[in-house]
Amino acid sequence: MSDSEKVFDRIANEYEFFMDHSTESRCDLEAYQLTFQNHSFPNRPLRVLDYGCGTGRFTAKWIDRLASKATAVEISLLEPARQQLNEAAQRLASRSITPVVTFGDLANLSGCYDLIVANHCFYYVPDVTHSLRRLVATLDQQGLLIVAISGQDNVLIQLWQQGFASIDEAVPYHTAETVENACRDLGLDAVPRDLTYQISFADSRAHRETMLRFLFDKHLARMPLDPLVAYFDRFSHQGQINIETTSRQWNITPPKH
Ligand SMILES: C[S@@+](CC[C@H](N)C(=O)[O-])C[C@H]1O[C@@H](n2cnc3c(N)ncnc32)[C@H](O)[C@@H]1O
Repeated sequence: MSDSEKVFDRIANEYEFFMDHSTESRCDLEAYQLTFQNHSFPNRPLRVLDYGCGTGRFTAKWIDRLASKATAVEISLLEPARQQLNEAAQRLASRSITPVVTFGDLANLSGCYDLIVANHCFYYVPDVTHSLRRLVATLDQQGLLIVAISGQDNVLIQLWQQGFASIDEAVPYHTAETVENACRDLGLDAVPRDLTYQISFADSRAHRETMLRFLFDKHLARMPLDPLVAYFDRFSHQGQINIETTSRQWNITPPKH
């Protein structure tokens, strides 16, 4: 396993905590809905893939937002965390008109898709350029790939930088800047959009440590904990942590021949 891979089966509760205490997914969904409204999808059941779907909680939401554009969907999922993939397949079965197709990794990916969503998973892929190339190659000629990922201006990504600097290591995860460079290198038609979202939770050491486990996974055990816990001080006010930060999305279409 490379350092950039993070085992979400192990930090499922911590990720749920982040999802429950941030507006990130709501902001992503609102932007997805605009994109869906403006894209010309074919008039037949849509073949959709969620790349890095996790437990499928977010997948269910974007598929429901697609309802005004699609009479029906055929769902495929790709997720390396096995328990999460199984949970997602069960959660989404009733939304798909065909049995949900699952992939554990990109090497086995097959199919041709009208829509691929890669929501906040490119941080962890071993090779962003390779993954983007493979995903775009599986798009239908009129297909659409949506990628969401935060960049170096994001408060949590700056916390990654502090944490890995404290053990003299480079951050092993990718950011929006890597995706931007890969899109340029691949000559993709990639339209960016910046989003602002909030993270809010009752301020306690336990909650701060939950966020740190979500962010650093296995690496946290090697880092001095107190300075990372103290990172949240600047966002604390009257017993509440309130963070406003940013994220980025791209709508990517295949090269025209
Ligand atoms: C922050 S979670 C996002 C989950 C879901 N897309 C969402 O928006 O809630 C990142 C997901 O990327 C997955 N992931 C990790 N490595 C990956 C890889 N190489 N390819 C695709 N997904 C990967 C993780 O297992 C995890 O489920």
